[in-house]
Amino acid sequence: MASYTDTDEQPSNGPYHAGGSREDEHVTGPSDLSELLKEGTKESHEKAESCTFVKDFLKGHIKRELFKLATAALYFTYSALEEELDRNKEDPAIEPLYFPLELHRTENLKKDLCYFYGEDWEDTVQPSVATQAYVERIHHLGRHSPELLVAHAYTRYMGDLSGGQILKKVAQRALHLPTTGEGVQFYEFNNVTNAQKFKQLYRARLNTLELDAEKKESIVEEANRAFHFNMKVFEELDIIGANLPKEEQKAAEPVHDGKGDIRKCPYYAAGQGGSGITSACPFHAALEIAGRPQVILAACAVVLAAALAWYLM
Ligand code: HEM
Repeated sequence: MASYTDTDEQPSNGPYHAGGSREDEHVTGPSDLSELLKEGTKESHEKAESCTFVKDFLKGHIKRELFKLATAALYFTYSALEEELDRNKEDPAIEPLYFPLELHRTENLKKDLCYFYGEDWEDTVQPSVATQAYVERIHHLGRHSPELLVAHAYTRYMGDLSGGQILKKVAQRALHLPTTGEGVQFYEFNNVTNAQKFKQLYRARLNTLELDAEKKESIVEEANRAFHFNMKVFEELDIIGANLPKEEQKAAEPVHDGKGDIRKCPYYAAGQGGSGITSACPFHAALEIAGRPQVILAACAVVLAAALAWYLM
């Protein structure tokens, strides 16, 4: 089993320790699988980002019933993926990427479903048509081409590690979920203390796989297929969501300090194509408004008028 620890105290049979091995600092080249995957799925990623379901979710526009169905879809997907990863954990393409303690989501998703549907959740939830197709593909690969499971693991886990905390906060606020984490266990990676470092390690491990150019190409192709399966699930949820009764919702709040690359802010992506203000992130929106000269002039005039009125009183 591959292993990751973020402190030197914990035992680890893997090469990653914060301040220890530099496996994760390897400089990547264009033929490295991590780069091929990132570049080769760019277009799919952009399409996934602009799905109505994803954009609405990021804005906090998600109905509870739809969130429950999305959680069920994730449960069936991750059960299949993790069942096949477990089965193939000794395969040379899977072993370096096998991180059950850090990444596996099935147990957390069970807790979320139990929270939403009650103890007999297993009798209630069923895979949708799009989810079933995704699940069947994963099982097919697990039995016939385990190295292509790498593509599905990459697409889901790297995505989850990239946006999880933001999505968790959006869901908690929009659905009035308890701040103690019930219902959003899926987004909790308790054994990953530094997602950025973990992603670097995962990329480095992808690059250690002994694969020829043709095999790498088929993994990239499969990753695009994985994105496509996800989008099909989102499309299905959109249709269901449109027919659900309206629910009272709170809009999403800013969940970061506004530092760093604006393009990495999911609110920014969600707000593209909006009204004049390009960011849906309230923090960036405020900055953008403040950046307009006429707004600054008007604000100055108000301050001056107020000062004058106070002086004359
Ligand atoms: C509005 C929706 C989304 C936004 C704003 C978003 C944003 C991002 C950002 C900023 C990163 C880069 C993180 C970093 O380099 O540290 C990233 C990475 C990634 N995302 Fe997304 N994402 C969205 C939806 C999705 C979806 C739906 C999937 C797949 C189902 C996905 C899969 C991935 C993957 C696989 C990566 C890793 C890319 C790499 O470094 O190789 N994302 N995402």
